[in-house]
Amino acid sequence: MAVRLGDDAPNFTAETTEGTVNLYDYLGDGWGMLFSHPKDFTPVCTTELGAFAKRKAEFDKRNVKMIGVSVDPLDSHHGWAKDIEETQGSALNYPLIADPDHKVADLYDMIHPNANDTLTVRSVFIIGPDKKVKLMITYPASTGRNVDELLRVIDSLQLTASYQVATPVNWNQGDDCIIVTAVSDEDAKDKFPKGWKTLKPDLRVTPQPDK
Ligand code: BEZ
Repeated sequence: MAVRLGDDAPNFTAETTEGTVNLYDYLGDGWGMLFSHPKDFTPVCTTELGAFAKRKAEFDKRNVKMIGVSVDPLDSHHGWAKDIEETQGSALNYPLIADPDHKVADLYDMIHPNANDTLTVRSVFIIGPDKKVKLMITYPASTGRNVDELLRVIDSLQLTASYQVATPVNWNQGDDCIIVTAVSDEDAKDKFPKGWKTLKPDLRVTPQPDK
């Protein structure tokens, strides 16, 4: 059965470029980002893995641990890691799961047979400290992901986990937020001391509460 938002992230133990990893132990009390790559030695994946490594400090700052998966064996991953370092200028600095038997790919429904029946799509799962799936994004093999967008959605997830706000279209850190409709105007006085603008009864805009 496919994983959906709000589900428990399926746990697993797998061989990775950093040894045997149990997902839940690896994530500890923090956030996680599990992402799949269609295959080793494929050029878009090479650029993504290098870019994720280069920006690791920004994921660390958000307490997000990265872990990648590709359906090739470990010796192939080690060879590919050399190419990634050489061409992208950053060595892998997070585990890359070897998944030749598709254990992880199947658990997370990362193979979409009408796209390709053996390669994984480019899935991203953001997992919260409660081990629930907070966000899922799926790209086809031919479209590389965007690190800024991944960091942006993590910022939104972390903000909305702490405050009763939602983030509007194209939101970025520091932009105004929307007070969720479950909060009455009376309660909003305490929760949002910076105030808010009521554009419509269901559209109340407030400065980002933690800034
Ligand atoms: C790539 O990562 O470059 C790629 C992988 C599978 C199909 C197309 C491109």
